[in-house]
Amino acid sequence: MKHYTGYLAIHKFEAELERELEIKGLTPALKKDRLYLVEGEHPPMIWAQMSAFGLEFIPITSINDGARKLKALGRNWGLFTVGNHRRAELIQSELPKYNTKPIPFRHPLPNGPMGFWTLWEPDLIIATTRTSSPFALGEMDFHEDKVMPPSRAYLKLWEFFTVYAPEEISGGTSIDVGSCPGGWTWVLRTLNFDKIYSVDKAPIEKRIMDLGHIDFRKESAFGLNPDDFEPIDWFCSDIICYPERLLNLVNRFRDSGKVKNFVCTIKYQAETDWEKTLKFLEIPNSRIVHLHHNKHEVTWFLKGDQQ
Ligand SMILES: C[S@@+](CC[C@H](N)C(=O)[O-])C[C@H]1O[C@@H](n2cnc3c(N)ncnc32)[C@H](O)[C@@H]1O
Repeated sequence: MKHYTGYLAIHKFEAELERELEIKGLTPALKKDRLYLVEGEHPPMIWAQMSAFGLEFIPITSINDGARKLKALGRNWGLFTVGNHRRAELIQSELPKYNTKPIPFRHPLPNGPMGFWTLWEPDLIIATTRTSSPFALGEMDFHEDKVMPPSRAYLKLWEFFTVYAPEEISGGTSIDVGSCPGGWTWVLRTLNFDKIYSVDKAPIEKRIMDLGHIDFRKESAFGLNPDDFEPIDWFCSDIICYPERLLNLVNRFRDSGKVKNFVCTIKYQAETDWEKTLKFLEIPNSRIVHLHHNKHEVTWFLKGDQQ
């Protein structure tokens, strides 16, 4: 029986996924809506909101038969519809319910696999229990804090430290470059760092400064000298700049040997800069993901315990 790897493109970023598949030498055998199927087993893609491994086509004879066959494979199922929406929803309504409520920051991730399925034809399902995310279709939302953060950029760092770096942080030093108006600096403050260097050409909001433990530097991040800092546990960047400038800054801090972990937003102008994105990926043991809270940007990270 044929198996496929399925990639669900992010809405409005289908072209990014298509280009990524091309760069990685993968040609979709089948495509419907935002769902691309490549024959065989392949790694997750940056520009897929969910990657689904070992997808199999399963014929069904009725709504009940579809639900029964999915339940026999696994418990939790995220549905993406590519047509036959009503029939697909009726099958989904017969499957076990799971929690889809927004979660708090650093809430433990759902345990147990999250499956992916779609009704490809009225009598043909495609499904797998092996996917890249514990959240249905890779979509996750937080109980937002409407009081403290001065911008919504904090949601990216919340997602990162909930999904990709959930380990406990007790003290240490972090640096936040491109920090104004202060959302990321606020998140770092709540993570119990003893000291947070916050760097931007524009000031961060006073109520964030007033939280203490923050050393604000009103200057360009590109002029920073790693020798002026003690060892840094987390280097965080959300600077708006060309990917090349960020890469040079990251490399300067990597070369200093003073930084343990990095998390940086790579932002794009009109076009996705694949050449520089691939340069980031050449940094050993680092990863690039498109967070649910990223827009036309991706998140590059390197965790010291994985070097
Ligand atoms: C998207 S905002 C950051 C939002 C911030 N992470 C937050 O959560 O509030 C990007 C910031 O990059 C800053 N920036 C641009 N060029 C910079 C540079 N050369 N040095 C430092 N900051 C810079 C801008 O001033 C802007 O405040």
